[in-house]
Amino acid sequence: MSIKAPTRRDFLAGAAGAGVLGAATLSSLSAFATPASHRAPGGRAGLIPYGSAVRADALVTDVAYREAIVTNCDIIVAEGEMKWLDVHPERNAYRFEKADALVDFARQNGIEIRGHTLAWYGAMPAWTAAIDSRAEAEAELVVHIETVVSRYRGQIPSWDVVNEALVDWPEDATSLRPSIWTRWLGADYLPIALRTTAAVDPETRLVLNEYDVEFRGARFDARRKALVQLLRSLRDRDVPLHAVGLQSHLFADRALDREGLQSLLRDVASLELDVLITELDVIDDRLPGDIGERDGRVAGVARDYLETVCEVVRPKAILTWGLSDRYTWVPTYFKRHDGMPNRPLPFDADLEPKPLFDVIEEFRGKFASRWTR
Ligand code: G3I
Repeated sequence: MSIKAPTRRDFLAGAAGAGVLGAATLSSLSAFATPASHRAPGGRAGLIPYGSAVRADALVTDVAYREAIVTNCDIIVAEGEMKWLDVHPERNAYRFEKADALVDFARQNGIEIRGHTLAWYGAMPAWTAAIDSRAEAEAELVVHIETVVSRYRGQIPSWDVVNEALVDWPEDATSLRPSIWTRWLGADYLPIALRTTAAVDPETRLVLNEYDVEFRGARFDARRKALVQLLRSLRDRDVPLHAVGLQSHLFADRALDREGLQSLLRDVASLELDVLITELDVIDDRLPGDIGERDGRVAGVARDYLETVCEVVRPKAILTWGLSDRYTWVPTYFKRHDGMPNRPLPFDADLEPKPLFDVIEEFRGKFASRWTR
């Protein structure tokens, strides 16, 4: 069934042409708003909300990018601006300028914003390496979460509280990725982080965000199994948790494990946890250079994936890890050998929609009538 609903682009055509989106500074980012009354919170009725990771600096400097985000996103998530490194660079100093700007920008434009992330091994400021006792680790983790989550209480309806808890090749749910938190708190850091977030903002949805659970092979089998065990162990201890975030960094040269992924999703559903697709992109470093062929293959990988997921669950949201190939983390780790730019995202570097965008649009609508609650 094809669903035709007005897009943000329809509403914005006039505003952008009239120069509403002009030069900006970080503090004035929120001033660049479209009429919020045009937007139902969380997206167009019945469709799976779509969104993207954003970069605050680019929203300030790049008008076309900002317009594309406002036009196309129901949800945004900070690509880095809410991580420890950014908001808590010194032990006794928080810096919220960029995170605040993103929250304001989202509110002014009627866009939802997700939080990312509160307990991760990555993007940690140097000072945390000096933590040297269990009591100190717990105090720092709790105070950080209380400070950040309370600042945005009521404004961030969903947090990636725990990010990438498992090692690359886990034996079981106890195979947690080493961090300052596991060093001093062991597996207790998970309930501490989740319970603290829930206590500070009882309305926000608590998400455990994980990657590399989509593919075929022994390592991915082990990751799916350990993830389900971890979710069960949290449930058995009454630790609050509402959803699993499937990061969904897909690799065009890795085979999707349809049965394995669907079995994971059935287990997640049986634990009464929601599913979000949080960081979708398709890593294209090993695909042929030809743009038409490459974009088609990327879209095909995403189609297979979304079909596999949506046969079992209706994702609460689909977010890509960036909107446009202009701003993507992918070349940092997966640069192409032919020197051509990567094309992992729904819009190209000129902000033109690609076949991947059509696939996402199709899935948002295709399952709307079937799954709408
Ligand atoms: O801001 C500095 C800039 O001043 C400096 O000139 C430049 C030089 O390298 O670095 C800039 O910081 C970089 C930052 O991204 C902003 O672009 C950091 O080096 C870089 O480490 C950081 O990488 C981010 C990474 O997480 C670590 O925080 C990526 O952008 C971001 O896409 C990536 O996101 C992760 C998710 O959080 C979790 N899942 C995987 C995903 C992709 O790796």
